[in-house]
Amino acid sequence: MKQSRPKKEKGNMAAVISSKLLGVAGKFLGKKIAVIGDCMLDRYLYGDSERVSQEAPIPVIDIREETYTIGGAANAAANLASLGAKVSLFGVVGDDSEGKMFRILCKEKGILNVFLRVHARRPTTVKTRLVARGKQVARFDKEVTDTITSHDEKYFLRELEKHSGLIHAIVISDYAKGVLTPDLSRAIVRFGRKQNIPVIADPKPGNFWFFKNASALTPNRYEIEAVWGEKLDNEKKIREAGRLLQKKMNTTLLLTRGKDGMTLFQSSGALHFPAVQTDVADVAGAGDTATAAFALAIASGASYRHATEIALRASGIVVAKSGVATVSLAELKSVLV
Ligand SMILES: Nc1ncnc2c1ncn2[C@@H]1O[C@H](COP(=O)(O)OP(=O)(O)OP(=O)(O)O)[C@@H](O)[C@H]1O
Ligand SMILES: [Mg+2]
Repeated sequence: MKQSRPKKEKGNMAAVISSKLLGVAGKFLGKKIAVIGDCMLDRYLYGDSERVSQEAPIPVIDIREETYTIGGAANAAANLASLGAKVSLFGVVGDDSEGKMFRILCKEKGILNVFLRVHARRPTTVKTRLVARGKQVARFDKEVTDTITSHDEKYFLRELEKHSGLIHAIVISDYAKGVLTPDLSRAIVRFGRKQNIPVIADPKPGNFWFFKNASALTPNRYEIEAVWGEKLDNEKKIREAGRLLQKKMNTTLLLTRGKDGMTLFQSSGALHFPAVQTDVADVAGAGDTATAAFALAIASGASYRHATEIALRASGIVVAKSGVATVSLAELKSVLV
């Protein structure tokens, strides 16, 4: 019969893990991470509605407040910066006021370098949420999701190559808006392998196969469900899909599972990590935090297992905050002790 470990031994093990995780986080500061992906601007319009329009049977909303934050790949980059990394962000924006604002907000979030291609015929991706009486009532998106040009691909690869000696990890943040073309995705994975730089990709289902041979992937459950082509509605199916996709992709697969935590699939087997946060305010952006913390831990020399523990705690902190939030290095360290 399997015996559970005595309490004291469990306590000692927890202390050893916590000191290892703190050691990893202690190496975060100044790590150089390149983030490439689909950049966006999130816009929130807050207002009240007390009248019905005379033009159509719809409410008229008086806007009282308008706020902007950076989203998509830029949110992963902002999370890396707030954890202490020196971040270079690669992406595309339009030749518009939102593109200019995007650049300014990146600086405000501590993203050190931005390598943005400015497109005349492609607007900056903007997602506008209309919030009335504390509830989202509509969202309107401005975007063009055509794949980027081969000039853009070459530019990104050239810039990555120029900085290769200075990069500790590459994060690919895919929101299926056209930056991660098959050629560019595969070239980045090849580049990482050649230069011995870990490449961690957070893929959308349609682009999943482009990231074969990446060091690690961090999809969520719905994304692998779409890749698998069948509902993964029980643990057995999730494990089967995770194991097979990990093998087929020749990668390490960190499956994020919302309130159910994370499962790490490696060639040596699967390990499950239950979520650590029960006091949840807003889960939006938790996946970006998880990918950012996981990648930074790997860049800092952590094992995949320890990187997962860190990603779990970092995302646990942001889900307790309202809105799309980031986690600071001090906050992360405080939950690792
Ligand atoms: N409801 C929740 N309760 C506790 N932890 C959560 C919850 N939702 C998310 N988390 C934590 O955040 C991690 C990442 O969340 P999730 O799996 O939802 O990523 P995601 O779907 O890619 O998120 P998004 O795309 O909105 O950024 C989870 O693995 C878990 O650790
Ligand atoms: Mg996600």
